[in-house]
Amino acid sequence: MSVQNLENKVILTLGSGSSAEAILDGTKAIRGGIPLVFPQFGTAKNPNDATAKLPQHGIARSSIWEFLSATSSDNKDHNDDEVTATFGLTGSQTPKNLREAWPKKFQLIYTVSLTARTLKTSLKVKNEDNEAFNFHVLFHTYFLAPDISKVSILGLSNLTYTDKVLNGARALESREKVTIDQEVDRIYENVTSDEIVVDLGEEKGNLNVKISNTNLRDTVVWNPWIDKSRGMSDFDDEEYKVMVCVETGTVADYILLSPGQNWEGGQILSVAI
Ligand code: BG6
Repeated sequence: MSVQNLENKVILTLGSGSSAEAILDGTKAIRGGIPLVFPQFGTAKNPNDATAKLPQHGIARSSIWEFLSATSSDNKDHNDDEVTATFGLTGSQTPKNLREAWPKKFQLIYTVSLTARTLKTSLKVKNEDNEAFNFHVLFHTYFLAPDISKVSILGLSNLTYTDKVLNGARALESREKVTIDQEVDRIYENVTSDEIVVDLGEEKGNLNVKISNTNLRDTVVWNPWIDKSRGMSDFDDEEYKVMVCVETGTVADYILLSPGQNWEGGQILSVAI
């Protein structure tokens, strides 16, 4: 496979993975790509949590971020070229209803870097409040796959997971390859391997995407399957057959950040030639 073809494939797989029904006018988070979950994954379990008034998956994915910078390197070997863009979001830039629901002072810097074989996304959180706050963070990555019956996810065996489909039941993953043939919504905890492999089961030569992470603990695997797909107005009824979300983050427990402190974490998606 040539680099050009490979780049096209990566872009096709990772970049165009938004639903045909996705709402793109800013009124709803885009169903595709990598929506950013912060500071709350799902909705808060406890009504006393500071994030309890926030909508599902928090504020970052439905706020308009500020473009901060873009840089590119131009190497002799173009395989090493890298394009990087940074974006910022502060508490005062979030929509009023979200700001009121979680009135914390914070600064987020989101860095996205693209090379021929990798897509890196990294988030820096600064607590600018007078008090410590708790947050979750998750890169909610949608992968486009030709056929869900041929998709498998490696690197999750022997991990404990919480099964949201089974009302939060906990179990141990025994499979080397996690496959999907029904609704799946699981939080795999304490992912010790920093390499999860999503085998998208391409017909002409397999396309495996490796996910490595920095400073993140959990991996969520999600496919809405038939009934949930029908219930989502911004998702085509048939699209569950051609997608899977494998989401890297810290969501089983909150991260506690003291005033003035920074936290940083991220993921690298990479394909091999
Ligand atoms: C996953 C959650 O991360 O996101 C699921 O584990 C949820 O429970 C899914 O259904 C999609 O969420 P939303 O808010 O984009 O419909």
